[in-house]
Amino acid sequence: MTISFTVNGASQRVADDMAAEPLLDYLHEALDLTGTKLCCGIGVCRACTVAVTKGATTTAMISCSTPLSVLDGTDIRTVEHVAQGEQLSAIQTAFLENFSFQCGYCTPGFVMGATVLLEQIAASPIEEAQLDRAIADAIGEHICRCTGYVRYFEAVKATALKVIADKTGARQ
Ligand code: FES
Ligand code: FES
Repeated sequence: MTISFTVNGASQRVADDMAAEPLLDYLHEALDLTGTKLCCGIGVCRACTVAVTKGATTTAMISCSTPLSVLDGTDIRTVEHVAQGEQLSAIQTAFLENFSFQCGYCTPGFVMGATVLLEQIAASPIEEAQLDRAIADAIGEHICRCTGYVRYFEAVKATALKVIADKTGARQ
């Protein structure tokens, strides 16, 4: 038996004897995708967050504590897949413009957590009054040792408001 999934659109097939290997190790060692960061390694900080889609549902998932065995049939996106060539995504640009990060080690995790949230909002816009709670739910557990929390939050909120305005036709 094998475990099949995609990473950034590329098909992957791994033998069952790799079932217990953490996704993060596979990304780093098999695919040389090192943008996803290892920090705590025990499922606490969310620096290692990636986007995992199964069916119609996309989830921001930590990769350090997720074994390959649970990823059969999923599509995984890492931070390397967020920009389109040289064109940064809206949230990457917002993090830059808001000076959200300092050392940047936690940033790939924040990018992926926020990217999943923004996709969810684009697919199903929420009321502005619900936004703070939604952002807190999406990135509130991410740890930034440089303590850039407020600026991350502000960048996500500004980007989310634009998404909501685009989707609802509201004036900003
Ligand atoms: S490195 Fe995965 S949660 Fe901290
Ligand atoms: S910017 Fe340094 S850990 Fe977050």
